[in-house]
Amino acid sequence: MNNNSPILESTNISKIFADGKLYVEVLKDINLTIQSKEMVAIVGASGEGKSTLLHLLGGLDKPTTGFVNVCGQNITALKPAAQGALRNKYLGFIYQFHHLLPEFDALENVCMPLLIRKQSPKFAKQKARELLNKVGLSQRLNHRVGELSGGERQRVAIARALITDPLCVLADEPTGNLDHKAAAQILELMLKLNQELNTAFLIVTHDLNLAGRLDRQLILENGVL
Ligand SMILES: Nc1ncnc2c1ncn2[C@@H]1O[C@H](COP(=O)(O)OP(=O)(O)OP(=O)(O)O)[C@@H](O)[C@H]1O
Ligand SMILES: [Mg+2]
Repeated sequence: MNNNSPILESTNISKIFADGKLYVEVLKDINLTIQSKEMVAIVGASGEGKSTLLHLLGGLDKPTTGFVNVCGQNITALKPAAQGALRNKYLGFIYQFHHLLPEFDALENVCMPLLIRKQSPKFAKQKARELLNKVGLSQRLNHRVGELSGGERQRVAIARALITDPLCVLADEPTGNLDHKAAAQILELMLKLNQELNTAFLIVTHDLNLAGRLDRQLILENGVL
């Protein structure tokens, strides 16, 4: 990684979904830079393209025009395997709909990114336990996804995103399914990780209270930030 590079930098990215009669221009020439240790909120109405933007920034989907640099490397130009490797190395993802693996329990789901990186299962389990502890789920380690509440699943997803010590976490409504108290705890946890580990966060949220606690607030409206 080039130390002077921002963690994320998009240059004129746009996204058009076009398929037969369908034509939706969701994002228009978005230029966005996330520096190391920054905490940035993205707010916007439903359907404005917030999830689409996170997917483009993380290399999960391809922009129609423009490109994205991750730590100075153009992720848009890479082949899927190399995109995955770059994403795995620097970024953590908290999806809007958690995407946990239903056949595994909480501990195994959180371990998964480290096992993919060929770390020892013992080390992965120890780290996963610590993180699940931090998100308040030490009593749910061996519950399968179907045996967890919505908010608990969300917290497992947060622990999973953090286990690789990412430089930046892209979080799509991480507190969307949580009550006030749980949402406040998750916010404090993210602020603490930001302080302790310098983890940058880009957080899509409808929670203006949460957004207000971050360094910058961006509004996505009519395809522009
Ligand atoms: N694969 C797709 N094909 C066609 N249209 C799509 C596709 N994915 C998203 N869209 C459209 O793009 C727009 C933005 O979707 P997106 O999921 O990014 O919105 P959002 O801001 O995350 O909304 P929400 O707050 O409800 O999660 C929507 O109008 C949606 O219908
Ligand atoms: Mg969304």
